Amino acid sequence: MLNKKVEEAINAQINAEMWSAYLYLSMSAYFHANGNPGFANWYEVQFKEEQDHAMIMFNYVVSRGGVVKLQAIDAVPTEWKSPLDVVEATLAHEEKVTALIHNLYKVASDENDFATQSMLKWFIDEQVEEEDNARTIIDNLKMIDGNGYGLYMLDKELSTRTYKQAAPLANGAE
Ligand code: FEO
Repeated sequence: MLNKKVEEAINAQINAEMWSAYLYLSMSAYFHANGNPGFANWYEVQFKEEQDHAMIMFNYVVSRGGVVKLQAIDAVPTEWKSPLDVVEATLAHEEKVTALIHNLYKVASDENDFATQSMLKWFIDEQVEEEDNARTIIDNLKMIDGNGYGLYMLDKELSTRTYKQAAPLANGAE
C-alpha cells in the first residue's frame, strides 16, 4: 500500500511532468513559427518524453495500490525572445524539476518507502541527462552567435532526434 504523503507527492509530480510536456510542446510551436523545424522536432520529442515520465509515475502509483488524481495543468509561456532564450528557459526548468525529484526522493526516504526510492533512481539519472542536453545546445548556440548558417546546421542536427519510449515503460517493468 502506498503511503498517503508519498502518494500525494507523486501525484503532484505527475502534474509537474504533464506541465513540462505542455511547456515543450509550446516551445515546439515557437520553433515552427520561427522557421526552425529541427528545433521544433527536438522539442516534440521532449514533449513525448515528459508524457512518458508522467506515465511511469502513473503506472507506479497504480501498481502500489494507490490512486492517481489528475489535476489541472497550468497555462505555459508561448513567447520567447530567441532560440537561445528558449533553451536557457529549458535548462532553468530542468534544474527546477531536478530539485522536485530530489525533494520527492527525500519524502520517500523520510517515510521509509524503499520501493518509491528505487523507482525514483531512474528519474535522478534522467535529470542529469536532461540538464546536460540543454547545456550542450546552449553552448552550440553561443558558439554560433547568431550566424545564420550555423543555426541552419544546428537545426539540421536537431531534426535527426527520434523518440524512444522511456526504458521503464518499454521494459514493461512498471
Ligand atoms: Fe521529466 Fe524533463 O524531466
